[in-house]
Amino acid sequence: MSFDPNLEKILIIDFGSQFTQLIARRTREFGIYCEIITHFKLKNFDFNEKIKGIILSGGPLNVYEVNKYSFDKKIFKYNIPILGICFGHQILSKLNGGKVKQSKHREFGLVNIFQKNKSILTKNFFNKKNLTEVWMSHADQVTKLPKNFKVIASSQNSKFAIIQHKRQNLFGVQFHPEVTHTKNGKKIINNFIFLICKMKKNWFVKDQKLKLIQEIQDRVGSNKVICALSGGVDSSVVAQLLYKAVGKNLYCIFVNTGLLRKNEEVQVIKTFKKKLKINLIYVNAEKEFINKLKNITDPEKKRKIIGNLFIKIFENYAKKIKNVKFLAQGTLYPDLIESKSVTGSQTSKIKSHHNVGGLPKKMKLSLIEPLKFLFKDEVRNLGLELKLSREIISRHPFPGPGLAIRIPGPITKEKVKILKEADYYFIESLRDHGLYDKIWQAYAALLPVKTVGVMGDNRTYEYLCLLRAITSEDGMTADFYDFSKSFMQEISNKIVNSIRGINRVVYDITSKPPSTIELE
Ligand code: XMP
Repeated sequence: MSFDPNLEKILIIDFGSQFTQLIARRTREFGIYCEIITHFKLKNFDFNEKIKGIILSGGPLNVYEVNKYSFDKKIFKYNIPILGICFGHQILSKLNGGKVKQSKHREFGLVNIFQKNKSILTKNFFNKKNLTEVWMSHADQVTKLPKNFKVIASSQNSKFAIIQHKRQNLFGVQFHPEVTHTKNGKKIINNFIFLICKMKKNWFVKDQKLKLIQEIQDRVGSNKVICALSGGVDSSVVAQLLYKAVGKNLYCIFVNTGLLRKNEEVQVIKTFKKKLKINLIYVNAEKEFINKLKNITDPEKKRKIIGNLFIKIFENYAKKIKNVKFLAQGTLYPDLIESKSVTGSQTSKIKSHHNVGGLPKKMKLSLIEPLKFLFKDEVRNLGLELKLSREIISRHPFPGPGLAIRIPGPITKEKVKILKEADYYFIESLRDHGLYDKIWQAYAALLPVKTVGVMGDNRTYEYLCLLRAITSEDGMTADFYDFSKSFMQEISNKIVNSIRGINRVVYDITSKPPSTIELE
């Protein structure tokens, strides 16, 4: 499944910045199609006329480490407008005759920059005093302006904070316009796309919906498709999209691992089977999962056991449906972007994610991944366009291994039951206080420690419940949510007073990094 190669686009060249995906998301938010390509893939790349602009991302490299990145000066000859960001700005400067050096002061965080010259790139960017606040994060800086370039703005430490070629459409910014901290950052991207690259909006959810449905119909014909439904946003959107395309030839299999949130299975059946009338095979495998996880404490072992058992069960049920040719999966664009590390290798594995990736090979099925060019927020919009309920669309992410990775140490039926209740109270309280949508992800976890408490006149000796609530853009980095004291008191009382088995509540105040969002 691919997008129309005739679509005009912005090409984003990734040098390993943690913000590359944000550049792409900002571009798409403006209704403009864009693709990310890692700098390793530039050799023999076809810079055809559909590429209307190029953005060079930031990255942790130094421009003089030439053996660590690939970039060909020829790119400046295609007459395609280029915007370099941070490392991109430095490389653009160096290759055009400028100089880059390690700066005396590492600039990190919010910095004021001052306008020196007018530019089409900075239209409506500066305030009335000709300055604005931007987010800097760099150790090197441009120290000599490249030939035929002029300065557009400077900060106290970076003389060449924004530069521009005098005749060609080449621009460099030392800061990060793609992050929300840069006050008018979106203006830079907007001006580049619309005023400099002169692009017209070409990326609409409605068009994508129709196009995706048509593509699925063309590919699947009258064959059967299976899909693992979890009730989460991605698989729900895939299921609904497939249903619109192939109707009753879609078979969804929903495996209840017993590690889902409270009443989740009931909601999934109600929505997909009863309301949307999708073929849904419900498998209750609670006992099998809990048995297999008995006495397992190692997080990676837990993940593997759950992943393998899930695949086995899914495969068994899928076999019962005759003549299936396709498997639909909710792979998203961020899953495909290769270069999450600078060197092109995968970043060191922190957790093995649970998915059904092993299935197609084993079952000889062709894969359908209709969401593989979309970001999460685009998937949500597509879901709304497909008339899925807001409740499904705005749900917080939930990991494949479910509550198992929120119960460090051995998992028992009793612990799962306690945790389901605690999580339910927490999430309901967030909804009641209008906080749910302000938080990217929230959950309760049950720690494998018992502590002493007192209730009435009695001593208690029960588990510790940890609450986690974070804000994030994409789950790659996260900050804890700053609740009011009264909310924390209320939820702590509710949990301890209503749930037998918990007598203490703690709140996780670590960010990611250094912590991860889930506990295991
Ligand atoms: P971490 O814990 O790695 O989580 O900071 C980042 C995001 O990924 C989710 N997560 C998973 N999602 N399968 C999934 O589909 C998994 O195995 C898995 N593990 C973590 C996590 O909930 C958070 O949103």
